[in-house]
Amino acid sequence: MVTNPLPAFPPGFLWGVSTSAHQIEGAVDKRDASVWDAFTAEPGRVKDGSTAEVACDHYHRYREDVALLRDLGVDAYRFSVSWPRVTHEGGLDFYDRLVDELCAAGVRPVPTLFHWDLPLGLDWLERDTAARFADHAARVADRLGDRVDRWITLNEPAEHTLLGHALGAHAPGRTLLFDALPVAHHQLLAHGLAVRALRAGGATDIGIANSHGPTWPASGRPEDVEAADFYDVLLNRLFADPLLLGRYPDGIAALLPGDVESDLKVIAEPLDWYGINYYQPTKVGAPEGTESEFSGLTLPAELPFSVRKIDGYPVTDFGWPVVPEALTELLTGFRERYGERLPPVVITENGCSYEGLDDQERIAFLDGHLRALHAAMAAGVDVRGYFVWSLLDNFEWAEGYARRFGLVHVDYGTQARTPKSSYRWLHNVLREQAGKA
Ligand code: NOJ
Repeated sequence: MVTNPLPAFPPGFLWGVSTSAHQIEGAVDKRDASVWDAFTAEPGRVKDGSTAEVACDHYHRYREDVALLRDLGVDAYRFSVSWPRVTHEGGLDFYDRLVDELCAAGVRPVPTLFHWDLPLGLDWLERDTAARFADHAARVADRLGDRVDRWITLNEPAEHTLLGHALGAHAPGRTLLFDALPVAHHQLLAHGLAVRALRAGGATDIGIANSHGPTWPASGRPEDVEAADFYDVLLNRLFADPLLLGRYPDGIAALLPGDVESDLKVIAEPLDWYGINYYQPTKVGAPEGTESEFSGLTLPAELPFSVRKIDGYPVTDFGWPVVPEALTELLTGFRERYGERLPPVVITENGCSYEGLDDQERIAFLDGHLRALHAAMAAGVDVRGYFVWSLLDNFEWAEGYARRFGLVHVDYGTQARTPKSSYRWLHNVLREQAGKA
């Protein structure tokens, strides 16, 4: 049971919760198809055989969900605008209604313009997809920009590249291993072009949501340290360096298509803030010559690293180790590596999967991570906001509905929403923090 009040966060600190379109909306008849629809239709791709056709039926129940946000007391709501809904006749009307409802409830809308549901027929291996994304961004901003002032371009291009195109665990299900690198580059280019398009339309508050976590070498042996460094490049530096330093880690640019030097100028358009999704650290060692299991993924033997189990910490239902202090380590490490090039940080996702309505483990998780975040701020990292993943239990990609990340329980049979203990806990934290500000 967590009883100690949290330390005070600064006035103006942005408290929010996150979701994404494909994971909650449903209403497939009111949008075009995405790569995720095609992927889930293939037998065996999603563990429980489920699809996101209905999900949380948020498309029809958004009013009830906005009321939950209002009663929770958050300042902001991060959701994603489904690109294949925007391409569908009348699809933007839904986001118009959602944004109006949020504004009326006093909750600031923070849309993400791409959260993995690529319109079917588009392909991140193609450079042209980057330009198409910038058009999508401009179109959404044109419609919502009178009420939305904060934008997120992409969600976790690292996962979309690694899981979707290198390892085949997510849509579109490719197993290209290192030949997936152009997918990373084209998403980063898409981000840069979208930043330019949004700014041209008057936007002034633009970020990205990248997934990051500390990489721990399995031992001090040089081969483990080298393997961990390699993994750190793939998860962290491949995405943060071009955005923040305007260059790729050594050896990467030569593997990418096109005029990489000139693309980097677009990719490194200055950001107003940098979003980090943090879940867990990873322990990495030299390859062991066999397949390994990691978070439900099978990692092929030919990778130049292997992921090892982290012992000595509690784990979530997903098997992810709960290591709040790794968030402090991540943020102070970012500050050290990027110095003045690092804009203010926002934690755009942090959360955990646990069953049950009286979710004391989730409360302990969030409490621990907020203390770790505060410690990073006390050490000089400029952090401006924190978003919990997620408001609702939802479609957890290849895991289907088996993993519950919500502050609010969803009964998928009846669509009943039931706030969990963590929802009430966060409500009290927000009230307490408002009193301290
Ligand atoms: C990151 C992704 O952005 C989100 O879609 C996912 O549900 C959470 N992590 C939990 O895995």
